[in-house]
Amino acid sequence: MANPLTGRDVIEIPDLTREDVHLIVATARDFEERLQRERVIPLLEQYILATLFYEPSTRTRLSFEAAMHRLGGRVISVAEVTSSSVSKGESIDDTVRTIEQYADVIVMRHPEAGAAHVAAAAIGIPLINAGDGSRNHPTQALLDLYTIEKERGSVDGQTIALVGDLKYGRTTHSLAEALVHYQVQLLLVSPAELRMPERVLQQLQRAGVEYRETEDIEEAVRQADVLYLTRIQRERFPSPADYDRFQGVFHVDPALAARSPRNATVMHPLPRVDEISHQVDALPQAAYFRQARNGVYVRMALLALVLGAV
Ligand code: NCD
Repeated sequence: MANPLTGRDVIEIPDLTREDVHLIVATARDFEERLQRERVIPLLEQYILATLFYEPSTRTRLSFEAAMHRLGGRVISVAEVTSSSVSKGESIDDTVRTIEQYADVIVMRHPEAGAAHVAAAAIGIPLINAGDGSRNHPTQALLDLYTIEKERGSVDGQTIALVGDLKYGRTTHSLAEALVHYQVQLLLVSPAELRMPERVLQQLQRAGVEYRETEDIEEAVRQADVLYLTRIQRERFPSPADYDRFQGVFHVDPALAARSPRNATVMHPLPRVDEISHQVDALPQAAYFRQARNGVYVRMALLALVLGAV
């Protein structure tokens, strides 16, 4: 029987059921384990992935491409939209309808919230959202869950602090939405002007997730099992002066990390600017590069599931 994600788009976390989330995590675990013994798991030899990024990316694009290669599949890519007809004014719909002629699945990143919906509606092959503006980043949230489970033994029971730009930080929105499927406590740590959007808070309330909003990172360090730092999203601010007010507001160094009674796991979707000092990297609880690696396993799971190969 086909898995329930076969042929589906992955646009935002609320589209996924709890069972879907568990299936993705379990499939990623299986792939990670198999990759200890095999370099390639040839499930997608028949398939082509197209990556279409209208915004910069290092980890998301490369880990999707690596994931496809690890599954024996092929990749075609519009690395920079300036090198494609988008720079001539082509619409998203026309672009993805064309790519649909060449590929079996599309991974797309776009600066506008909702762009992934528009693109997915225009085509019949699965579209995976690799970030749409400041709104969603569902595949990052899934790899974040996977990382928390691996680093802490389980997601349930953890106190998780999301720290930084919770207004524009799409990874924190999608992660908070994914955490409604677990028994967790959330600390939402941001400047008052960069609070988590109401629409996400309402989902937490509806799901009965306990959360507290604070501006105090010390409080988070005292209470959290996981410190999830994020960058202030400079490119989303109306003006550079607005950004300057918040630059460097939260900073974790070894002295602060040492004050965590629970030895909190330090995560970051990366890129970091100045949220975590480089001296933290050597600490065992610094998980952000392992987190980036986990992106390959989780994206392998997503590709294999939506293409119906597992
Ligand atoms: C994030 C993104 O693009 O939203 N990066 C990523 O995918 N790992 C985080 C960010 O840009 O701050």
